[in-house]
Amino acid sequence: MNILIIGDVYGDVGKEMISLYLNRIKEDYNIDFLIINGENISKGKGMSLSDYDFLKQYNTDVITMGNHIWFRNDILRYIKHNKEVLKPLNLPRYTPGEGSILFNVKGLKVRVTSIIGRVFMFDFANNQFEAMDDLLEHDTSDIHIVDFHGEATSEKIGFAKNYDGRLTALYGTHTHVQTSDSRFLPEGTAFICDVGMTGPFDGIIGADQEAVLHKMKTNMPARFVQSNTEGQFNAWVLEINEKTKKVSKHHTISITPQKKYEKQ
Ligand SMILES: [Fe+2]
Repeated sequence: MNILIIGDVYGDVGKEMISLYLNRIKEDYNIDFLIINGENISKGKGMSLSDYDFLKQYNTDVITMGNHIWFRNDILRYIKHNKEVLKPLNLPRYTPGEGSILFNVKGLKVRVTSIIGRVFMFDFANNQFEAMDDLLEHDTSDIHIVDFHGEATSEKIGFAKNYDGRLTALYGTHTHVQTSDSRFLPEGTAFICDVGMTGPFDGIIGADQEAVLHKMKTNMPARFVQSNTEGQFNAWVLEINEKTKKVSKHHTISITPQKKYEKQ
């Protein structure tokens, strides 16, 4: 079984990159299951109904979100009924949506769970270990993939180590820069700190640099706009052995203005 994981898709340039490359990559790697993080797809913040439809056109199986989940009210129209759109599992249970979903793929039970970090992030997220322990207590899945949406690499590594061997794969999103640490942890969980963004290459993690720099230098409020520079496409591919139900191979895809796409 082959799973394609795409991190934060950022704004119009991100959608353009999806249109340019996604179908080809799905075909090249014989993809059976597709997970995309959609929390930045609508001009950098949140996911409008039309952008939800855009991702569904590509038969996206699961859309994970993050700290911008509630930025657009549109999501309240679909998150209750469209359970493949995940909120982070450790958000207050009074918020709409589910943090985890179970699918049947090629006769195996595949679970996808969304988690949000608490270091430099939402201060109202619950303890992610408690949320995951509660979930695992009754979990019957064969394969379990987790999107950890967080700022700090230490927090992602710590969480992954705590569940090493109990999760099939755990990947980071939110920092928008692909890390070069795609690896197996000692007990077999596949891990990467961040799969990287699919969006503008030359802004500041997706936004136009002018307003971001103004804010950084002055500490004054600024309205960020999406960058319109050339695009990049980043993803993580997992090959899963259907007998052992473990990842047998993992590798990153990275397409930038300097690095053309080539199937590995
Ligand atoms: Fe985020």
